[in-house]
Amino acid sequence: MIVSIIGSQWGDEGKGKVTDFYAEKSDIVVRFQGGNNAGHTIVVGDKVYKFHLMPSGAVHKKSLVLGNGVVIDPKILIEEIERLKKDGFNPDISISDRANIIMPYHKILDGIEEKMKGALAAGTTMKGIGPCYSDKISRFGIRFSDLLDIDVFREKLNLIIPIKQKIFNAFGEDAKLDIDSIFNEYLTYRDYLKKYIKDTSVFLNNAYDKGNVILMEGAQGTHLDIDHGIYPFTTSSNTNAGGICTGTGVSPKKIDKIVGITKAYTSRVGEGPFPAELCNSEGKYIQSKGKEFGTTTGRPRRCGWLDLVLVNYACLINNFSALAITKIDVLSGMKKVKICYAYDYNGEILYNFPSNMNLLAKCKPIYKEFDGWEEIDWKKIKDINSLPENIFKYIRYIEELTKTPICMISFGPKRDETLILKDIFRGV
Ligand code: GDP
Ligand code: IMO
Ligand code: MG
Repeated sequence: MIVSIIGSQWGDEGKGKVTDFYAEKSDIVVRFQGGNNAGHTIVVGDKVYKFHLMPSGAVHKKSLVLGNGVVIDPKILIEEIERLKKDGFNPDISISDRANIIMPYHKILDGIEEKMKGALAAGTTMKGIGPCYSDKISRFGIRFSDLLDIDVFREKLNLIIPIKQKIFNAFGEDAKLDIDSIFNEYLTYRDYLKKYIKDTSVFLNNAYDKGNVILMEGAQGTHLDIDHGIYPFTTSSNTNAGGICTGTGVSPKKIDKIVGITKAYTSRVGEGPFPAELCNSEGKYIQSKGKEFGTTTGRPRRCGWLDLVLVNYACLINNFSALAITKIDVLSGMKKVKICYAYDYNGEILYNFPSNMNLLAKCKPIYKEFDGWEEIDWKKIKDINSLPENIFKYIRYIEELTKTPICMISFGPKRDETLILKDIFRGV
């Protein structure tokens, strides 16, 4: 069986928490796209784990996979493996031999390109993600199978590095790329990682045939998708459910469930129009109570009301089996809470998320207002019917407008701060 976790907004919806929660019932946890631009947080007791590349099943000691669609900075991956070892885990990880490798020049190019783009800059994480995917598409990429073959690796470096150096020079970038030192540095990574490198498409399809439960962990969110997101302020991969198949070599026919992770409000780290953004004390309240500071870059996240135009578009693209609503606790203590259900564009009412960023920037959110709720003792909530009436109304409205059942309500970062409404492994 294959269950997948997909962000329905702009990332940081709590995918790490939900993946860790579902990992208990899974055999294998897989990342299929993105790289260490992701920052997924898991809280177990007093311990906080922040994973950038490692699938969020690591703490449950599950079998872990980095699929071919992931772009991998080997240095960061080794650091994460070592950190886990120090914490008493010995991660059982498989790395796709077809995954592309982030090289030093990708990180430098990320900085150069962001500077050149001016108002079109997405505010990237500067981890070299975009340039690595660009090289993949233009077939200048270096994959793990290349790293395993020293002659091929050297040949590729000899060809690619002088080209990158010319690009640096053209943009007035001083950095000097030294082929020998990059070659030697990456050979040490190869020596460390080679035992983990394999054909993960074969591994995953065999595991599926044997009846294993496979959990696919998306990074970023649908609105950061290179095709369906707020282009050009997106990331560079397919973050939607379609990315699962291209990023793992598993057929769409094998995917059973797709859970959309939806934060009870909206956050955005990076640039671009954000119609429901709250640039006032309410936005500050949510940012500070929700600890909305980037897991990867530490940047403050822009916050706003829940935007169902955004979420509904993600429902359309992904056809979610169910939604998991996270961080509902953060809204406690607010007198009124609002949900945006449409945009007003010069008097025209829009229900679908527009592709044109200038148009989006002129959209005014249309809200439904709800009475807020006080802080509550979540431990007393055992099912949806024991929720205070105002939270119940808020949740039901999301379900009604998205036409998607809610399978989970998360009210804190820890595993036991979770209310299960539907069992995603059985029904829904
Ligand atoms: P991800 O990128 O989607 O995995 O999300 P991040 O880990 O970047 O950001 C989510 C943050 O919210 C993390 O600090 C989580 O520990 C925390 N979190 C997750 N679920 C909840 C919740 O229901 N309530 C609260 N208050 N925090 C949560
Ligand atoms: P998780 O998995 C939130 C944003 C960056 C930037 C844009 C492009 O933790 O939800 P990139 O470095 O990918 O080229 O940056 O995408 N971004 C994220 N925002 N959560 C993420 O990951 C993100 N990964 C990238 O801020 O605007
Ligand atoms: Mg994150």
